[in-house]
Amino acid sequence: MAGYINETLKVIEERTSCRSFIPDSITEEERQIITSAALRAPNGGKMSKFSLIDVRDPELKKRVAKWCDDQSFIAEAPAVYVILSDFSRWFRLFSSHVKSMGAPINFPREDEILLCEIDAVLAAENMVIAAESMGISSCFIADIILNYKEVKETLKLPKYVMPITLLIMGRPRNKPAKRSSRINAPYVYTDCYQEIADDELEAMVDTLIPKDKEGTPTMSRDEYIRRYYVRRLGSWLSVDRTMSVRDMFADWLKNPYTD
Ligand SMILES: Cc1cc2nc3c(=O)[nH]c(=O)nc-3n(C[C@H](O)[C@H](O)[C@H](O)COP(=O)(O)O)c2cc1C
Repeated sequence: MAGYINETLKVIEERTSCRSFIPDSITEEERQIITSAALRAPNGGKMSKFSLIDVRDPELKKRVAKWCDDQSFIAEAPAVYVILSDFSRWFRLFSSHVKSMGAPINFPREDEILLCEIDAVLAAENMVIAAESMGISSCFIADIILNYKEVKETLKLPKYVMPITLLIMGRPRNKPAKRSSRINAPYVYTDCYQEIADDELEAMVDTLIPKDKEGTPTMSRDEYIRRYYVRRLGSWLSVDRTMSVRDMFADWLKNPYTD
């Protein structure tokens, strides 16, 4: 463990996403440990506003992979969890108990969408770290938000439940040779936000640009940034995702009694 202060920091530093797994490489006991770690995550108001769907059916795994922009490796993952924001449990409780107060009930609004998402993401990251500490690798797949209507219908999601991300897990077939790069830019500011200088901003991508064997960047910053734009904001995938997320939010915000 040379170079690390403790085992937890080693796990955080050395984690990498993995997309190729040894079949059946997670035991039931390990699944139990991983899902218990989700419940131990920090969560707003001790409400744990998230749920997990543990996808076991191989045919359903294939459908999930299709929903996620056809990323076929998903179907081969030993564990596939759909991570959900979930206000439905609490809303049912509030609905039955608040009625007796004689006041009209408020519905969970945009603030709760955000707060549920935070609970769900923190739960998922706890799962990642718990898994990693047992030698189980993982990968987030946010494209589960691409096909909200189908996901909702197939997984029978009730009102106030939204898919946030997919998390796939298993023991790695091949450990990625090295950790992936990160941006090279200031990102911790003291006391208030500070816009970084243009040259620092430009240099931000230098660590991300692929290099050849000699360590020379394979393209210019300009080309790299343009390609990234085309893959992200400039893509049809982004448009599809937006439409799906709009449906998801509209569904949540509909008055459950009158709309
Ligand atoms: C919100 C989110 C969405 C992601 N979606 C995908 C995805 O659709 N497919 C995929 O292969 N990896 C996906 N990833 C994994 C990232 O590609 C990966 O975390 C990133 O490249 C950094 O690499 P590392 O996790 O190995 O450090 C996603 C990660 C996050 C946090």
